[in-house]
Amino acid sequence: MKMIFIYDDSMTTKIILDCDPGHDDAIALLLAHGNPDIELVAVTTVHGNQTIEKVTRNALAVATVAGITGVPFAAGAHRPLVRDAEVADSIHGESGLDGPTLPEPTFAVDDRHAVDLIIETVMQNEPGTITIVPTGALTNIALAVRKEPRIAERVKEVVLMGGGYHVGNWSAAAEFNIVIDPEAAHIVFNEKWKLTMVGLDLTHQALATPDVVASIAAIDTVPARFVLELLEFFAESYKDAQGFEFPPVHDPCAVALVIDPSVMTVVRVPLDVELTGTLTLGMTVADFRAEAPDTCNTWAATNLDHAKFWGLVVDALRRIG
Ligand code: BDR
Ligand code: CA
Repeated sequence: MKMIFIYDDSMTTKIILDCDPGHDDAIALLLAHGNPDIELVAVTTVHGNQTIEKVTRNALAVATVAGITGVPFAAGAHRPLVRDAEVADSIHGESGLDGPTLPEPTFAVDDRHAVDLIIETVMQNEPGTITIVPTGALTNIALAVRKEPRIAERVKEVVLMGGGYHVGNWSAAAEFNIVIDPEAAHIVFNEKWKLTMVGLDLTHQALATPDVVASIAAIDTVPARFVLELLEFFAESYKDAQGFEFPPVHDPCAVALVIDPSVMTVVRVPLDVELTGTLTLGMTVADFRAEAPDTCNTWAATNLDHAKFWGLVVDALRRIG
């Protein structure tokens, strides 16, 4: 069960986590739940690492492991805006969350579509108070801002895991979350909101090294053991599929930036998404040629404080208990 701590809740940031669990999405959800500076106001799911049915079930299972209650979970888009759906079973397995035995969820998914839950949450809260944290394809977010354009001015910001300015993983130039629905990403990257791209350049520094695994093992609780099993499977996948010695744990990096901006360096830089390249479809193009003007509303994460980042994850797991 989550332990109650007394803290100044005027300091908390309300987030909507839009995710496709997914091993690293699961850890992002646990970090958001366990950190006292975050108020998780909604969780929405999107096609990606697996089908919408599987990732939604996985999200509910992770919530059950962590004892998350009172937060609406809603299922969203089952496929990209234009293209056919593509899953990442080479990384996340058949279930989308292979490794641990998943518990039966203790609560049901919300009746609303994710897009409507996102819009309602943003419109019903004070302007400038909701941060959207997408850690999957950007289909739901693109649909939401097309359906209700006022959310673009009403959110505090969008902090997403996706893209990369120097490196790809699903192609030489493109990252998975962006390239599986590049048209949606193009909409989201070109909106008026402040957008920060926590891309592969950053998340490839968030490696679950043996000392990290040992710190999580020392917690010795059900959620911590669940994370260890996730990391064990994730490490094997990343070794086999992409030759990593230790797995990069992408998605919690976006949550960590919302919790504590000092956990990474971000730079203001014009960003856009390639839609027509034959070799570069879905590439997030960053224009580093000159200092970005004050009108530029896009930012990119560059350098991670590895110890501080994993300290936040370990602290959240301890608090969840
Ligand atoms: C991203 O792709 C997914 O497989 C992960 O969950 C992460 O969001 C990394 O490219
Ligand atoms: Ca993800």
